[in-house]
Amino acid sequence: MRIGLLTSGGDCPGLNAVIRSAVLHGIKSYGDEFVGIRDGWRGLIEGDHIELSRQDVRGLARQGGTILGTSRTHPYNHPQGGPENIRERMRRDDLDAVIAIGGEGTLAGAKRLADDGVPVVGVPKTIDNDLKATDYTFGFDTAVSIATDAMDRLRTTGESHSRCMVAEVMGRHVGWIALHSGMAAGAHAILIPEQRVSIDQVCEWVQQVHARGRAALVVVAEGYVPEGSEEAVADKGQEADGRPRLGGIGNWLTDQIEQHTGIETRNTTLGHIQRGGNPTGFDRVLATRFGIKALDLVHEQAWGHMAALRGTEIEKVNLTEALDGLKEVPASRYEEAKILFGR
Ligand code: F6P
Repeated sequence: MRIGLLTSGGDCPGLNAVIRSAVLHGIKSYGDEFVGIRDGWRGLIEGDHIELSRQDVRGLARQGGTILGTSRTHPYNHPQGGPENIRERMRRDDLDAVIAIGGEGTLAGAKRLADDGVPVVGVPKTIDNDLKATDYTFGFDTAVSIATDAMDRLRTTGESHSRCMVAEVMGRHVGWIALHSGMAAGAHAILIPEQRVSIDQVCEWVQQVHARGRAALVVVAEGYVPEGSEEAVADKGQEADGRPRLGGIGNWLTDQIEQHTGIETRNTTLGHIQRGGNPTGFDRVLATRFGIKALDLVHEQAWGHMAALRGTEIEKVNLTEALDGLKEVPASRYEEAKILFGR
């Protein structure tokens, strides 16, 4: 078969490892040929691609970003998009199938195309870990590891100055990165969108820590909305596409803590460094396994399905299942973390 690979949506460490393993598996096991589609759906629609040989994917498992480039182009919103045009373009470009590697938006596009007769399978990716039907997505472990390292650094400077340090992390509308990195760094408060903690409660935790002569570390997910302060944070706002605005909640929270407690406080918005650089070992392995599975799904003609991690096994799941709402942090996980807040 001649198979196209594309990466779409925000980049994420591990994308290149998927590309590498799918290509190596396809060449070795099935005698496939591969095409790397540039910039997500745009490249598929416009026929912008490169041949991918075994040599082209050498050493890619450890490399961050995506060698194919990415974009947020929607396959139905592009002027030359839509299933008929895409099928025709694939016929002209001699493409038998497409592996689409992306998050919720990409997978929703893949599902719709598959329903409309385009031979496409998915691979889930996102640092946010918010996709249902897979226990973990690659990129998440790397983001947690980068955020944890940054928090360890914030703690030494915070302790030196007796300052409260706020760390704003990514995660879009869920708190997985905040929960895991905050627990790993021993944060004194972790604030996530799924749990509406009030500012008064946050300040109480911070004061408890400072009363013991320590400096508090507060981890806040970018999508957090404090209970009772919904209106006050409304203008911190969102970007046009619904993403939380970088630094919005972190800076607001920092001002609030300082005003309410009198404790000098600083915010650090970790931003895109959480998505940059090389993937962790865990993410390399997960992405590699996803690439192998996706290739097998193509040969099964399991269009509209994706690779997923269930426990320790890589399984085939229908994209419908993956797109059935966001995977939020359960209350029980938050309660567990909360045992160690304040202290
Ligand atoms: O979905 C991944 C993510 O990094 C979110 O955590 C964040 O809200 C968003 O993408 C940032 O998007 P952009 O890179 O377009 O600013």
